[in-house]
Amino acid sequence: MNNGFINIPPNYEPVLTEDGSYTLYSKKYDENCHSTSGADGETHKYFVIDSKLEEENQKSQIIFETGFGLGKNFLAVKDLFSNSSAKIHFISTEIDENLVLWFFSEYFKIEKESQKIIEHQFDNISLTILIGDATVTTLEYFKEVNIKVDKIFQDAFSPKKNPSLWTTDWFKLLKNISSKNAILTTYSASHSIRNNLQDAGWCIENLKGFGKKKSATRATINHE
Ligand SMILES: C[S@@+](CC[C@H](N)C(=O)[O-])C[C@H]1O[C@@H](n2cnc3c(N)ncnc32)[C@H](O)[C@@H]1O
Repeated sequence: MNNGFINIPPNYEPVLTEDGSYTLYSKKYDENCHSTSGADGETHKYFVIDSKLEEENQKSQIIFETGFGLGKNFLAVKDLFSNSSAKIHFISTEIDENLVLWFFSEYFKIEKESQKIIEHQFDNISLTILIGDATVTTLEYFKEVNIKVDKIFQDAFSPKKNPSLWTTDWFKLLKNISSKNAILTTYSASHSIRNNLQDAGWCIENLKGFGKKKSATRATINHE
C-alpha cells in the first residue's frame, strides 16, 4: 500500500481517511489516531481553528499537547507559524517512544536518541516531547520549569481507551500549568469529560464537531 509512510513502528497500521490523508491505527489501543472523516481536516478543525491559533499566528505562545501520536498537530502548528516572527514552544507527551523516533525519521530524516525528554529546535519553534505516561511526566516537567501554557491540545485516545487522561485530576493538573487566559480544545464532547473539566475549574463551550461528530469542546479557566 502506498501510504507515504516509511517504516511504520510495530503495533500500528496505516489508515486512509476520507480527506485523502493517512492516520495510524494502534493495535494496542484498538483505535485510530484520527477520525476516519479526515486526519488532516480533524487536526485543522480542533487544534488550529477551535484553539484560535489561526487568528493568533503572530503571537508567541506555549502549547501543551496530550498525546503526540503521529505529530500531526505539531506539523500543523509548524506550518501555521512558518512565516511568523512569533516564537512557539510546543510541549507534547507520548507514552510510545517508538512513535516519536519514527516521527523524526519519517518527516525530518533525523535519527533521534532514546531519551526521557526529546528536544529539537525548528527555526522559530522549539519542540519538547516528554516520553512516558503523561500523568507522571507532565507533573515532573512542570515542577522544574517556570512556565505557563497558553493552549492545550487535549488529544489522547478516547476516554474509554485512555481513562487516566480524562479525569478531574488530569484536568486540574492542566489548569495548574496554564496561564490565566489558556484555551483547551478537544474532539470529545461527552458529558462525563465535560463534568470532569468543570469539576477541575474549567468553563465549557460547546462547538461544532468535525465530520460525523456533532459536537466538540473548548474550555477556558473559570475565574469565579
Ligand atoms: C489520538 S493519538 C494523538 C494524535 C496526535 N496528537 C497527532 O497529532 O497525530 C493519542 C496518543 O496518545 C498516546 N498516549 C496514550 N496514553 C498515553 C499516556 N498515558 N501518556 C502519554 N501518551 C499517551 C498514544 O500513544 C497516542 O499516540
